[in-house]
Amino acid sequence: MTLDKLMALAKELANEFSMPFSDYQFVLSHHLQQSIPQMLLNRRQLIPDGLEQVLNHDFAKLNQGMPPQYVLGKAWFYGLELLVTSAVLIPRPETEGLVELVLARLHGQEQILDIGTGSGTIAIALKTNCPSANIDATELSLDALAVAQTNADRLKVQINFLHKDIWPGTAILYDWIVSNPPYISAEEMQRLDSRVKDYEPVTALLGGIDGLDYYRKILSQAKSHLKPSGTIALEHGAGQQEAITHLANLQGWHNVQCFSDLAGLARYLFIK
Ligand SMILES: C[S@@+](CC[C@H](N)C(=O)[O-])C[C@H]1O[C@@H](n2cnc3c(N)ncnc32)[C@H](O)[C@@H]1O
Repeated sequence: MTLDKLMALAKELANEFSMPFSDYQFVLSHHLQQSIPQMLLNRRQLIPDGLEQVLNHDFAKLNQGMPPQYVLGKAWFYGLELLVTSAVLIPRPETEGLVELVLARLHGQEQILDIGTGSGTIAIALKTNCPSANIDATELSLDALAVAQTNADRLKVQINFLHKDIWPGTAILYDWIVSNPPYISAEEMQRLDSRVKDYEPVTALLGGIDGLDYYRKILSQAKSHLKPSGTIALEHGAGQQEAITHLANLQGWHNVQCFSDLAGLARYLFIK
C-alpha cells in the first residue's frame, strides 16, 4: 500500500470513529520517521507489509480512543523523548511553560523538589537544562516511579526519585518546590473527555472534591521544606488561580506572582 492510501484510510477511520485525524498522523509520522510535511511530499512511497500490520494494529487502538502517546508508549516534552505507560499522565505542553519559567530563574546548584513527578517530566527537563541543580522528585505511584527512573536513565540524568506521599521525608530545605499536582475537581472529572478519563490514571488527575486538595496540603506544609529565600512554583487548572491565591494568603504566603500559559490562560503561581 502507498502512503497516500494509508493516509486516506486514516482519514476514513478518524471520521468513522470521531477521533482527531492528527492522532493518526502522529502515529504514522512516528513509524515512518518523517514529519507531516515530509509525508505529504512522499505520498507515493510504498509501505512495507510488516509496517502496514503494525500501523493497522495501532490504528485499531486509536479507533477505540487510546491517546497516540499511549499507543506508541512515547511522548515528547521540552524536546525530550519520554517513555509513557498507562501509569503516568501524558506530559502536557502547559507544563513546558512551568519548566520554562523556573529555568529562567535558576542560577545552578539549586536544591529542587518536584512533587508528583509522574514520568519524571519536570524533574528531567530541569536537570537536563540545568545539570548543576540537585533534584529530588516524589511520587506516590510505584509504577509511575519506575517509568520516571527509566526516563532519567535513558537520558542519563541523575535525579533522586522517592516513593513518598508529597514530601520527601528528609530535613532538606529546598530553593524550589515545583509541582503540577492533580487538580481536576470531582465535578469536572464527570465532564472530562473520555480519551483522558478512560486512559489516564485517576490518581494523576483528581485533586479532591474541589480540585484544590494538593494545593491546600502543599501550601500548609511547605514552610518546613522551603528555604526562607525559596519559591513554590505551581501549575494549576484554568480558573483556579484566585482560589489558590486565597489559600496561599490564608497560610501566610503574601508574595504571590501569577503567570499565564501560551493560550493566555492563568496557569502558574510562584509563591515566596
Ligand atoms: C498531574 S500529574 C503530573 C505528572 C508530571 N509531573 C507532569 O507534569 O507530567 C500528578 C502526579 O502526582 C502523583 N501523585 C498523586 N498523589 C500524590 C502524592 N500524595 N504524593 C506524591 N505524588 C502524588 C500522581 O501519581 C501523578 O503522577
